[in-house]
Amino acid sequence: MNNKTDVNTGASKVDATSGSSLIDNHEEVVKSPWPGPKGMIPVTDGKADDANVHNRAYLDSILVEMRLIDSVKPDLTTEIFGRKYASPLTLAAVSHLNKVLDDKTRKPMQEKARAAKNMNVLNWIGMESNEEYTEIVKEGGDTVRIVKPFADHDKIIGELQLAEKLGAVAVGMDIDHVAGSDGNYDVVDGIPLGPITFNDLEKYVHSVNVPFVAKGVLSVRDAVKARDAGAQAIVVSHHHGRVPFGVPPLKVLPEIKKALRGSGMTIFADGSLMTGYDAYKALALGADAVLIGRGILSELLKDGQKATEDKIKKLNQQLSQMMLYTGIKDTKSFDSSVLHFE
Ligand SMILES: Cc1cc2nc3c(=O)[nH]c(=O)nc-3n(C[C@H](O)[C@H](O)[C@H](O)COP(=O)(O)O)c2cc1C
Repeated sequence: MNNKTDVNTGASKVDATSGSSLIDNHEEVVKSPWPGPKGMIPVTDGKADDANVHNRAYLDSILVEMRLIDSVKPDLTTEIFGRKYASPLTLAAVSHLNKVLDDKTRKPMQEKARAAKNMNVLNWIGMESNEEYTEIVKEGGDTVRIVKPFADHDKIIGELQLAEKLGAVAVGMDIDHVAGSDGNYDVVDGIPLGPITFNDLEKYVHSVNVPFVAKGVLSVRDAVKARDAGAQAIVVSHHHGRVPFGVPPLKVLPEIKKALRGSGMTIFADGSLMTGYDAYKALALGADAVLIGRGILSELLKDGQKATEDKIKKLNQQLSQMMLYTGIKDTKSFDSSVLHFE
């Protein structure tokens, strides 16, 4: 499907779908990178209420200075939840991929899990039935299971506890998936979602003995509530633009980081991080690690596991290149003072 996404945000022209900048002053028809049927894979019209447009513009407005003297090839290894990974890049929860391809012999969810395992990066799994989840995690590798804010609280606790039993290194909830576009609580695959109170969150956190991640935090207020409810991690995110006019996660990341200082919480961030350079900016602004969703999706759906591994390798190379240029020796040494905002 072709998708015309040539937009002008006022600052620069961007392809809001892929996140790539377009060459200025050229009318371009951009092919959608999403091979799946419309509705399964997000396709954006590129208008200003699409928060992805603002992600891209904000990311592209951040420039770096060079710090070359004494700079050495960086060490990308990163500890997350007490485990060592090859890099701070993790593979975001992208649900239902086993249903989107015409080729029904392929299982992109399993391919993604295998790619993460081979590349020694953390893999996130979102909305899947317990049966499908069980099949995917048989591939091995480390997983964070994200459960939807279902109206049925027993269903939530059942999914969280099964994930713990099957060895998830952490579990959590995409708290940003409450509202639907009709202004009501959303319904996904016919399953009603519901509101999340502070007390609910506390209950979910205490229903498991692995770290709990609140995914979809976009304010200091929610970050502090998540901390007080006992969450050990957050993902600063708006879930590829669930909220219209959502502020870019990287824009609120520094104030959230400041508010959580001393809590020991792990702070993840995502949102249109399409390259290792984008990931670098998130890490420099205070993320401990980042989630890459749409940045690997085209490769995964089109060519599978090996192409996904190659893409992770490429992203790691770009991250390493940027760290070497800016004098950042390891993933504990990111420094926002290298950044300049246009
Ligand atoms: C096809 C697709 C399915 C997704 N499904 C889930 C999900 O089930 N649970 C969840 O927490 N996030 C889900 N997400 C959101 C991603 O985890 C991520 O937060 C978001 O896409 C932003 O990252 P990106 O800009 O790198 O794609 C999904 C994203 C995509 C593109």
